[in-house]
Amino acid sequence: MHWRGVIEQYREYMSVTDQTPVITLNEGNTPFIACRNLSKAINNKIRLYLKFEGANPTGSFKDRGMTMAISKAVEAGAEAVICASTGNTSASAAAYGARAGIKVFVLIPEGKIAVGKLAQAMIHKANVIQVEGNFDEALTIVKSIASDYPITIVNSINPYRLEGQKSAAFEVCDQLGGNPDYHFLPVGNAGNITAYWMGYSEYYKKGKISSLPKMMGFQAAGAAPIVYGRVIENPTTIATAIRIGNPASWKMAVNAATESRGEINMVTDEEIIEAYKLVAATEGIFCEAASAASIAGVIKKNKEGLFNEGDTVVCTLTGHGLKDTEMAINFSKRPVTVKADKTEVLKVLGY
Ligand code: F0G
Repeated sequence: MHWRGVIEQYREYMSVTDQTPVITLNEGNTPFIACRNLSKAINNKIRLYLKFEGANPTGSFKDRGMTMAISKAVEAGAEAVICASTGNTSASAAAYGARAGIKVFVLIPEGKIAVGKLAQAMIHKANVIQVEGNFDEALTIVKSIASDYPITIVNSINPYRLEGQKSAAFEVCDQLGGNPDYHFLPVGNAGNITAYWMGYSEYYKKGKISSLPKMMGFQAAGAAPIVYGRVIENPTTIATAIRIGNPASWKMAVNAATESRGEINMVTDEEIIEAYKLVAATEGIFCEAASAASIAGVIKKNKEGLFNEGDTVVCTLTGHGLKDTEMAINFSKRPVTVKADKTEVLKVLGY
C-alpha cells in the first residue's frame, strides 16, 4: 500500500475532518531497526530497537507534528505561522509551510543551531530571524507575538503538534507487534516524550497493546531543568537541539515519566558523543548528537542494572546526522591524503 503520511494512516486518532486540507510530505513509516551489534556492545540480553526518525522528509520527527499543525492552521485560514526553534522545528515548519503556500517566521538562537537546519529554513524561504539569546528567550517572544497577532504558533504548545507526533508510538507498536518494555528518548522542550505517552496510552485503551512501556527521557547534563527541578537560565550542551532550560511541556513530561513508572534523567556531553559514535560505527546509523542521548541513556541505565533478560528496549533517534556534518567530522578520524598513485594507496590500506 502507498504510504500517505501520518494523518491518513492514523486518521481515526487525529482531530481532522473531511474539510481539513491535508498538508503532507508523506512523513512517518520510518525504519524500525533491530540492533544486534549495538545490543552486543551494551547488553546482549536485551532486545534493542531503534526508531530512526531521521528518515522523515525533513530529517527529524518534527514532521509528524508539523503535518497536523500546518493542516489545521490552513483549515483555520491562517496566512502565517511562527515558531522558535533549535533548528529542526524551523526546518519542518519551513518545508510544510512552503507546501501549504503560507508565510513562515522562525526565531532561532544565533550561532547555536546546526548549519544543515539553518540551510533548510532558508531554502524553503522561511523568514529567518536569529535572536541574540537562547531558545527559551526566543519562545517567550514567539508566544507573545502569537497571542497579539493573527499568526499561528507551531511550537509543540500547539496541541496538534503532539497529536501528530503520537503517531510514532503507534508505529512502534505496529512494527514491533506489541509494546516495548522501555522507551528511551531525548528530552528538550519535552513535547515528544509527552506525545509518545499519549500515543501508547491511546493504543492501550483501544486494546491494541497489552501493557504500557516505561518512558525514559534523557536531558543533556548542562540543560537538565527537569532533573534539577528548576529553570536553567544558561543551558549548555554540545547537543544544540536539546539546549533548553525551561521546557514548555515540563509538567506533561513529568506526568509521562511518573505514570509509566519511568523517569527523566540526564547524560553528559561525553556520554552523548560516545553513543553518537557507537551507533554510527556499529549499526551504520547516522543520527544527530541530541538523538544519541537516548542510547546514552540505555548505556547509563544498563550500568545501573536496570534491565532483565529479554527486555524489549526502543530508542528514538530523533534526527538525521547529516544535519550537522561539522559535528561528525570533529569527532572522527581524519582522512589521509595521498598522491593519485595505486602503490601509495595500497601502502595506506596495509597491502
Ligand atoms: N532531538 C532533536 C533532534 C530535536 O530537534 C529535539 C527538539 C529533541 C530531540 C527534543 O524533543 O523538544 O520534544 O523534547 N527540538 C526542538 C526544535 C526544540 O526546535 O527543533 P522535545
